[in-house]
Amino acid sequence: MQSPKYTARAHTNIALIKYWGKLDQDLIIPMNSSLSLTLDKFYTDTSVFFDSTLKQDIFRLNNKESSSLKVTHFMKVLREKTGETRFAMINSENHVPSAAGLASSASAFAALALAASRAAGLVLDSRSLSRLARRGSGSATRSIYGGFVEWQQGSDDATSYAVPFEENVAWNLSMIAVVISAKQKKISSSVGMQRVVATSPYYSAWRKTAAQDLAAMKKAIKKRDFRQVGTIAEENAMKMHALNASAHPHFSYFEPASLQVMKIVADLRSNGIFCYYTLDAGPNVKIICQNKDIQTILAALAPSFSQERLVVAGPGPGVKLIDKP
Ligand code: PMV
Repeated sequence: MQSPKYTARAHTNIALIKYWGKLDQDLIIPMNSSLSLTLDKFYTDTSVFFDSTLKQDIFRLNNKESSSLKVTHFMKVLREKTGETRFAMINSENHVPSAAGLASSASAFAALALAASRAAGLVLDSRSLSRLARRGSGSATRSIYGGFVEWQQGSDDATSYAVPFEENVAWNLSMIAVVISAKQKKISSSVGMQRVVATSPYYSAWRKTAAQDLAAMKKAIKKRDFRQVGTIAEENAMKMHALNASAHPHFSYFEPASLQVMKIVADLRSNGIFCYYTLDAGPNVKIICQNKDIQTILAALAPSFSQERLVVAGPGPGVKLIDKP
């Protein structure tokens, strides 16, 4: 017997205040609260139905059968929570313009959480959905909502979830994603953050300053102080990457081209174009800017990066069903 099929769409998000370190590996309770902007250009569509004839979950990504330990684990958690006993057919499509490399587990697990919970007969409110998405990937916790979103760290499964900070962002602000490599990251975010928590001598300083950065970021967003938002985001990202440089063994996600983009951004700033960068667990750089400066920034990047490597994204919406029975 088959369950009805549900399809959900979730957009990815980029953290302005990063999550980097887990208090609980299984429940994915973070060491610090974080804040992100959901983007309009990058999203995942996932459809799910349960089928009593299946002997295991079948996961297809971009029309190709795939295997993912994270998806397998997530479906186990979902079955425990919902009481569903059947295995599922999962079809996922990542929509990433031009060159890949920005597909993220954030949009993947937010879409899967909504589609799979509905297919299992459960209608969850946004908070419960955020808690469920968290079990797949930390950053997915935030992709339940659009716009600026805060993931409140909490201390256990019930208290760690995202809340919307400003869902409909009426602010002319964008992120230019510079795609440097589409390759799988060498050190997964999970391995990277675990190593940092265990070995970086600076980890306690990170936790303290991340809390201060978050409070300052929220004030800056409320005040519409773009320079302050950009400065805090860039500094917070660099503190996260400094943790990686101080881990044992140390590691880095930067490629030479990442440093090149950072220098272009710094030079633009010296010339009065206020833009800022942030990087996650990979070499791609996201430039935070005001819409009036997009063309100038693209022109500064054009000699070094082809057009298909530059994607301009704006604030995007929260997760939603796009197809239901
Ligand atoms: O939840 P993950 O495994 O996608 O880890 C996300 C880690 C960062 O992207 C570096 C930071 C963040 O808060 O999104």
